[in-house]
Amino acid sequence: MTDYHALEQSLKALLAGTPYPLAVLANGAAFLYEVLPDLNWAGFYLRETSPRGESLLALGPFQGKPACVEIPWGKGVCGTAAALDSPQLVPDVHAFPGHIACDAASASELVIPLHDGQGALYGVLDLDSPRPGRFTEADLAGISRLARVLEEALFSKGL
Ligand code: SME
Repeated sequence: MTDYHALEQSLKALLAGTPYPLAVLANGAAFLYEVLPDLNWAGFYLRETSPRGESLLALGPFQGKPACVEIPWGKGVCGTAAALDSPQLVPDVHAFPGHIACDAASASELVIPLHDGQGALYGVLDLDSPRPGRFTEADLAGISRLARVLEEALFSKGL
């Protein structure tokens, strides 16, 4: 069992005093990829506006194989999490309608929305695993706590 309380403390310590959003996201992705077992991708997709004025998700800092640069709002697991503003725990990505396969090795996925200081959707945290059913409800709860630490580091006046 992953000790999410210990990871929360470690992540807070890592990000304390980091005022640069890109550095928070870069170290956040590196930390999650390092400490969580059985991942093949860990990183962020951030809300951007297309030249036509539509919201989309654009690739942010990550660890793993190079990935899709743009994800349309509402598409794939990440776009669904963003559009519904709701975490997506997907035990079998091949059974998810419209799943976007950036790495053919991915079998299961957990996506958690991130919000800015006003509560607006800022982006999503995306974790992929080569193991089917890698993420449990306990992982969702624990990783949601880590996502809150990232939001605080990004949008509060420091941890
Ligand atoms: N599988 C994701 C796309 C992002 S990559 O896995 C890094 C999705 O369906 O949204």
